Amino acid sequence: MNPSDRSFAASLAASDFGRLRECLGSFGTGVTVLTTCAPDGDLRGITANSFSSVSLEPPLVLWTISRNAQSFSSFMACERFAVNVLAAEQLELAKRFAASGGDKFQGLKYFCGLGGVPLLPSCTAWLECRTATRYEAGDHVIIIGHVTRFERTDRPGLLFVSGRFYSATSFPLSELL
Ligand SMILES: Cc1cc2nc3c(=O)[nH]c(=O)nc-3n(C[C@H](O)[C@H](O)[C@H](O)COP(=O)(O)O)c2cc1C
Repeated sequence: MNPSDRSFAASLAASDFGRLRECLGSFGTGVTVLTTCAPDGDLRGITANSFSSVSLEPPLVLWTISRNAQSFSSFMACERFAVNVLAAEQLELAKRFAASGGDKFQGLKYFCGLGGVPLLPSCTAWLECRTATRYEAGDHVIIIGHVTRFERTDRPGLLFVSGRFYSATSFPLSELL
């Protein structure tokens, strides 16, 4: 069934949406800040946990942005964006970029990536991307990026599940292979 079908939406009662949000939120993720430089030169950033890897060849990643986000038009117009994968010690950055509107970069140290896109220091990893495709998806838009440069560190990541933040620590002897 196509998620944009009216029949699909009609199958959920309005009272189900809160429960659906909780159900979806039980899937734990990392936390990223997506950054870009708007056509007017202003810097934009938004906390997002919808980030996912898509393909290695070609190197593609995705994330989704709400149509209600203040930075929506900037990310719809930008040719480049960066994925800043937050470290456990960057909880305050996650909160800063989850607040809507305003100059989120005021007083913040950052360095300039490709195309002037801001990169946040002390992250776990960075992926600099060219916007490849955008797909309409209900109240969000899926943005696919082609990775042009990336870097990682050994800093433990920040995690998010069921509305709470956590620090990534591994179980002993939990290697996959
Ligand atoms: C952990 C976490 C994950 C989030 N993930 C997303 C996301 O994937 N996409 C999105 O549009 N908003 C997401 N949000 C909400 C935005 O960060 C929030 O709406 C923010 O105010 C948008 O900023 P803006 O209105 O200045 O663009 C997330 C918030 C948090 C705390």
